[in-house]
Amino acid sequence: MELKEAIFRRRTANKAFLKKPLKEEHIREIIAAANKAPSHFNSQPWDFILVTDPGLRKEIGKIAGDSMKRLISEGSFFNRYLKYFRFSKEEIDSKRSGIYVDKIPKILRPFISKIFSSSGVKILNRLQVPSILGRDARKIVSEAPLLLGFMLQRAEYRPGEKSGIYSLISMGAALQNIWLTATSLGIGLQFVSTPMEVPENWNKILKLMKVPETHELLALYRLGYMDDSIKRPAIDWVSDERRSFEDLVSWNTYKGK
Ligand SMILES: Cc1cc2nc3c(=O)[nH]c(=O)nc-3n(C[C@H](O)[C@H](O)[C@H](O)COP(=O)(O)O)c2cc1C
Repeated sequence: MELKEAIFRRRTANKAFLKKPLKEEHIREIIAAANKAPSHFNSQPWDFILVTDPGLRKEIGKIAGDSMKRLISEGSFFNRYLKYFRFSKEEIDSKRSGIYVDKIPKILRPFISKIFSSSGVKILNRLQVPSILGRDARKIVSEAPLLLGFMLQRAEYRPGEKSGIYSLISMGAALQNIWLTATSLGIGLQFVSTPMEVPENWNKILKLMKVPETHELLALYRLGYMDDSIKRPAIDWVSDERRSFEDLVSWNTYKGK
């Protein structure tokens, strides 16, 4: 696949993956691409945990499901991230950022405008939306053939110091290499960040994955082979829109909006 094609075809994978394990040569290619990323002084400040064990994936999946259920039922997720949600084509077309919830069960449609109000959370709970989302999250995480933990070494990742920023810049480059390589191999990738939003659940994941004190686990992904025949989840979103060139750039000096 051409580089440009991989860049423009890359998407977050929200659906389940094929249950077949990833080929070891593909996993090696992905990690080699990550490690080819630039890093300050070629420090390669990262280490990875590759979770393939079904029992461990099941435990992590349970935690992901529980985190999703809690965040939605308590309303904390929407309170935190309301500004990124779009519920109509017109809204996403005009804002050209955020995520457009384009798939929602019929029963929920009449309540869309209320979802983010205090009565919205009650309605979502009454319609068991947190349980549906939690169940889906548990399933797609535990059934993903590979979970990948991205760690930075604390000796390099020192928040507040330059090496902290340099490590994060390096990590971004490595992550994008992972994502583009996965795309070129027909492998989908999704961040599993909901457990990070529930500190005690994140701690459970750190323990399960035996993340040492010397490292910080900064991201967890699920990966697997994509297949067109697999259905989208009951509630789903897309985020293909991007801001325009004119909106993004100022020539020579910043002109503001
Ligand atoms: C730091 C970070 C955290 C993210 N967390 C999640 C997540 O928990 N679940 C998810 O489905 N997508 C997550 N995403 C994916 C973004 O929502 C997605 O990249 C964005 O909407 C653009 O969509 P695209 O990746 O399909 O182009 C995350 C992305 C980043 C960079």
